[in-house]
Amino acid sequence: MLQGKTVILGVSGGIAVYKAVELLRLLTKAGATVHVIMTKNAQEFVTPLTFQTLSGNPVHTDLFSLFQEREIGHISLAERADLFILAPATANLVGKIAHGLADDLLTTSVMATKAAVLVAPAMNTNMYENPFYQQNEKMLVQQGYHLLEPVAGELACGWEGKGKLPAPETILAAAEAVLTPKDLFGCNLLVTAGPTREEIDPVRYLTNYSSGKMGFAIAAAAGQRGATVTLVSGPANLSVPVGVKCVPVFSAEQMRTAVLEHYPEADVVIKAAAVADYRPVHRLENKIKKNSDELTLKLEKNPDILAELGAQKGGRVLIGFAAETERLLVHAAEKLQKKNLDMIVANDVTSEGAGFDVDTNIVRFLFRDGRVKELDLMSKEQVAHQLLNQVVVLWRAKQP
Ligand code: CTP
Repeated sequence: MLQGKTVILGVSGGIAVYKAVELLRLLTKAGATVHVIMTKNAQEFVTPLTFQTLSGNPVHTDLFSLFQEREIGHISLAERADLFILAPATANLVGKIAHGLADDLLTTSVMATKAAVLVAPAMNTNMYENPFYQQNEKMLVQQGYHLLEPVAGELACGWEGKGKLPAPETILAAAEAVLTPKDLFGCNLLVTAGPTREEIDPVRYLTNYSSGKMGFAIAAAAGQRGATVTLVSGPANLSVPVGVKCVPVFSAEQMRTAVLEHYPEADVVIKAAAVADYRPVHRLENKIKKNSDELTLKLEKNPDILAELGAQKGGRVLIGFAAETERLLVHAAEKLQKKNLDMIVANDVTSEGAGFDVDTNIVRFLFRDGRVKELDLMSKEQVAHQLLNQVVVLWRAKQP
């Protein structure tokens, strides 16, 4: 979402300025062109040179700088922006904006912009709780500004409490969310992700190479697009996207229980999990000892969760994944029919840049009417958005 976008990062003076440096790095990594405006006090904490070096653009500090005005006037900078981020935003900055004061370059530019403004405040707990501050914050929200809540913890002034700037990753996710069209607003979306673990004994289990990255990317993108997202995930070493409700599970049986529990209220289900097809018939109470040269494990079939959902589909949109190593389209088309799906995402997990535990994927979308849409190699985030573009069409078509 940030690719090709122009972002103004407004930095005001607080100890959290150092986190704005990391935020700038994340924004440019995501493909945004970033122009930084610093207040006089912000420059007491970090020099403009740091922001200039990382953004590749001159840092704006002075309302009356003849050079900066000639190069790029502050009004035209404010006009060009797709997004304005204030991080950290001090109580003073929030107060000035709320009351329409424009006495330096940053406040003047905020006033002049028509872009969305994301405010990430950071301050002492008492200041944050001060009724004047709270009133000012409310005024910003009423005017359509996007406010991020500060987090609780140990503050630089030695206090414990709410007032810390959220992590740069959280601000980045919020920035992406602000820029994303809310075309899934009103949609209850259930996503599954990750592998399942089928226990053999207290120290061993059967599983697969799934990392959960694809399912988590779908959950994050759907949340940004306004959906109410429930993510049922097998063990995955990933952070839960902001605003997503996560239900952690281990085995296929637990995944089935969790999915069926959330199925009644779901409008769309996307099953990106790599469910183990078989489980040991008996889970042994004690660790298996290596007493014999050979060991045979007796396995039984796990329930096919997606097929079960397909059998009681109603007016929902149901989407599956087909991870294949050969005859990709044939196998995927079979699963689409057999499980009563609206669409299946087929990926050949043996091709380079696709499949488990990588950040990219190469997929094809197969639809019930026989259409096949091929996508190039792209990041899992991009695949997620492409997939959700299809979900929007399928979901709208089913609405009365
Ligand atoms: N799936 C499921 N429950 C299972 C197995 C698979 O819900 N017990 C879902 C997966 O989440 C995926 C789709 O079914 O969306 C296809 O999964 P895949 O592993 O590719 O195929 P299987 O149906 O398991 O068939 P096979 O292993 O024979 O390829």
